[in-house]
Amino acid sequence: MKELFKKIKASQLWRSMFRHGYEDSFRNRALQITTNVALHLHPVTTSLLGSRIRHTFCLGGIALFLFIVECITGILLMFYYRPVIEFAYLDMKLLQYDVHYGMILRNIHRWAAHAMVVVVMFHMLRVFLTGSYKPPREFNWVIGVGLLVLTLLLSFTGYLLPWDQLAFWAITVASNMAAATPFLGCEGPFRELFGITQYNDMKFLLLGDSEVGANALLRFYVLHCAALPLVAAVLMAVHFWRIRKDGGISRPL
Ligand code: HEM
Repeated sequence: MKELFKKIKASQLWRSMFRHGYEDSFRNRALQITTNVALHLHPVTTSLLGSRIRHTFCLGGIALFLFIVECITGILLMFYYRPVIEFAYLDMKLLQYDVHYGMILRNIHRWAAHAMVVVVMFHMLRVFLTGSYKPPREFNWVIGVGLLVLTLLLSFTGYLLPWDQLAFWAITVASNMAAATPFLGCEGPFRELFGITQYNDMKFLLLGDSEVGANALLRFYVLHCAALPLVAAVLMAVHFWRIRKDGGISRPL
């Protein structure tokens, strides 16, 4: 077995991907990380405190893990779901009762979404309690707030997709709240300042119509499956990059 590993490691294919063997020196350890696409996402060195589980509880990492679970299960769900009002509800029932592992797939997606909301909030609390929002990390805090809003919007847009009674009425209530937004809602205060009517207000923008229907379902589907995850992934990349540029995980001065 050892011989086989040696042969693999000496092959041109292996050496074209992994440029440095792991001889245990500081230089080689650093090179190992900076020359590998997956490993270079990590910093070359970390502080001892930053790597202690009780400093971060790995809450940010768990949030990332849950986001990846959502993406994978979400893509699998897309194979069975059509965002049109004739089929949306039936497709979900078919998935649950006729597709092998359909029920568990749907439930993993649902529970991971709930867990992500809770974990992101706890992550934010941890960052606040350790004072990690202070300079130079204040910009990363702002990126984090963007990620929190996106996490909530992902849950909100996913809510309508099963097209059952709960989904329909929850979005009806939420979109009526949008109609009551000051300045931008057709029932909100100061609406006349911008000439807002029921055909150009926040609710109309959200639903693509003045009530929940086919346009709303399509809009929520596109937001939920493409637009919001894409923006979240970009913001996460910036978030992780900033952690490194701000000197790694925070620690007392
Ligand atoms: C989808 C949401 C989020 C993900 C995936 C995420 C991910 C991460 C990860 C992996 C870390 C490294 C430390 C750790 O694991 O705790 C981190 C640190 C950090 N996060 Fe987040 N985060 C998210 C949301 C937020 C929110 C809502 C805030 C605050 C409003 C925030 C602010 C920060 C700050 C300031 C740091 C640096 C902390 C330090 O240096 O100790 N993040 N984040």
